[in-house]
Amino acid sequence: MPTPRQEKKPSLLVIGGGGHGRVVLEAAFLSGQFARVVAIDPEASKNWSLSFADCVSDEIEVVRPDETWLFVPAVGSAVLRKKFLDTYREKGFAPTSVFHPASVVSPSARMGLGSVVLASGIIAVQAKIGDGVIVNNGAIVEHDCEVGDFSHLAPGAVLAGGSSLGSGCFLGANSSVRHGTSVTSEVIIGHGAVVTRDITAPGTFVGNPARRLPERVKVTE
Ligand SMILES: CC(C)(COP(=O)(O)OP(=O)(O)OC[C@H]1O[C@@H](n2cnc3c(N)ncnc32)[C@H](O)[C@@H]1OP(=O)(O)O)[C@@H](O)C(=O)NCCC(=O)NCCS
Repeated sequence: MPTPRQEKKPSLLVIGGGGHGRVVLEAAFLSGQFARVVAIDPEASKNWSLSFADCVSDEIEVVRPDETWLFVPAVGSAVLRKKFLDTYREKGFAPTSVFHPASVVSPSARMGLGSVVLASGIIAVQAKIGDGVIVNNGAIVEHDCEVGDFSHLAPGAVLAGGSSLGSGCFLGANSSVRHGTSVTSEVIIGHGAVVTRDITAPGTFVGNPARRLPERVKVTE
C-alpha cells in the first residue's frame, strides 16, 4: 500500500527579536506548524539566548533555495510592521499569520496576513481581522467585530460584539470597547479605559468613560 506523502512544513522568519518578537517566535514554535523558526534582528542577534530558535541579522544567513520560508512582522510599532510587511514581500517571501496553540479562532472569522493571535487570545464568530494585527495575550475580539490593518489589542483588551476598530489603533492593556461601538483609525486607548461612545477622530483616550487627553504642547527649544 502506498504511504501517504508527507507534506514538508514551511519555515518561518519572525521579523523582530525584541520583546514582542520573542513572544511571537515562541507562539510559532509551540504551534508546531513550522519546520524551523528564526528571528531576524541585527541588534538582538548579538546577545541572543533563546534555546529553541536562532536569531540572525539577515535572512541570507538561513534561507536555502530548496526550502519554503514564510514571514511574519513582529515588532510593536505599527509603522514598522507595515514597512516589514512591504519589504519582505518585495524580497519574495509570503506573509503568514501566527496562532498560539492556546488561542481560539473561529473558523468563520476572516484573518488578514502577517497578523498574530497570542496565548488565550480569542477571535469570535465572523470577526474580521486585517493585516499586521496583534491580538495579544488574553485579548478578545468578539463576534462580528472588525479590526483594521496594523492595529494592536494589548493583553486583556476586549472589543465587544459588533464593534469596529480602524487601522493603526492601539487598545491598551485591559481596556474595553462597548458592544456596537466604532473607533476610527489612529486612535490610542489607555490602559484600563472603557470606550462607551463612537470615536470619530484620531487621538488618545483614557479613563471610564474614556475621554480624550488634551494634546500636549511640544517644546522644541
Ligand atoms: C494613554 C497613554 C498612551 C498615555 O501616555 P502619554 O501620552 O505618555 O501620557 P502621560 O503618561 O504623560 O499621561 C498624561 C495624563 O494622562 C493620565 N493617564 C495616562 N494614562 C492613563 C490611563 N491609562 N488611565 C487614566 N489616566 C491616564 C496621566 O495620569 C496624566 O494625567 P495628568 O496630566 O493629570 O498628570 C498611556 O498612559 C497608556 O495607558 N498606555 C497603554 C500601555 C499599555 O497598555 N501597554 C501594553 C503593552 S503590551
